[in-house]
Amino acid sequence: MNTVKLNSPKPSLSRTGSPELKSYSPDDVFFCPEESQFYSQCLEKMIFNRCEPFEQVIEFGTGDGTPVISGLLKTRFAGTIYGYELSSSAYAVAQNRIKQYQLSDKYKIHNQCFFEGYESINANYLIANPPYIPSPDDSIYMPALHGGIDGATITNKLLSVGCQTVLLMVSAYSNPVETIQHAIDEGYSVIDFMVTPLQFGYYSSEPKVRDWITKLREEKKAFYSSNIYFLAGVLFQRKTVGKTDLSSELIKVITAL
Ligand SMILES: C[S@@+](CC[C@H](N)C(=O)[O-])C[C@H]1O[C@@H](n2cnc3c(N)ncnc32)[C@H](O)[C@@H]1O
Repeated sequence: MNTVKLNSPKPSLSRTGSPELKSYSPDDVFFCPEESQFYSQCLEKMIFNRCEPFEQVIEFGTGDGTPVISGLLKTRFAGTIYGYELSSSAYAVAQNRIKQYQLSDKYKIHNQCFFEGYESINANYLIANPPYIPSPDDSIYMPALHGGIDGATITNKLLSVGCQTVLLMVSAYSNPVETIQHAIDEGYSVIDFMVTPLQFGYYSSEPKVRDWITKLREEKKAFYSSNIYFLAGVLFQRKTVGKTDLSSELIKVITAL
């Protein structure tokens, strides 16, 4: 099994505070730097540089914390992010990094299921790079990345939480058209988006997953070429007055392959 050193530029700290480099399996802590970096760029441009000062933001799935930390270090965002992470290993890595970069008062994380914790925070903003691996069941390399049969189950659930503004990563192989339609049905408009091409990585190249994605393509629920798929960072907003809805443009782009 592959192991990945999830170490930051400086040695990370153990839970007891002693310096050490700890290795985690990518089956335990999400590891896809290209995707995490893109999520971070989307946060920077569409959330941290646009939010009103002192906003409260809730995050589904902090992972190792890198995307939010990197966005916070590059912007002057003055609000607070409340993150929820199911994996205790990912939570431990994220907590150490938050302390290392002295962001504990801006990025507060919980080792808890998002759906069991988020209601205690009165947040207008919800952000996530959610689990979107489509598969008939969760017996996959990292079960916490299972996005249901079409990959869109958690994404759609997040669009039903009721936040006014939601930034989500939407994958072209995880039934994106129904997700956008679901967002519209929930009263959202697409007010901005960014798209990046990604190669199929460790999690989506698992043979069982890849075969399933091929089936979804036949049902027009997955869009990709032999080399790449598109990942979109989408900013959904409710009750927007005078803002253009870009949902039809987004559908054209995300289904282009
Ligand atoms: C695609 S990864 C994204 C991680 C990180 N945000 C990033 O972009 O690098 C999704 C994360 O959601 C976490 N997760 C899955 N189900 C969860 C739940 N119900 N509540 C909180 N976190 C969850 C997974 O453990 C995983 O770390």
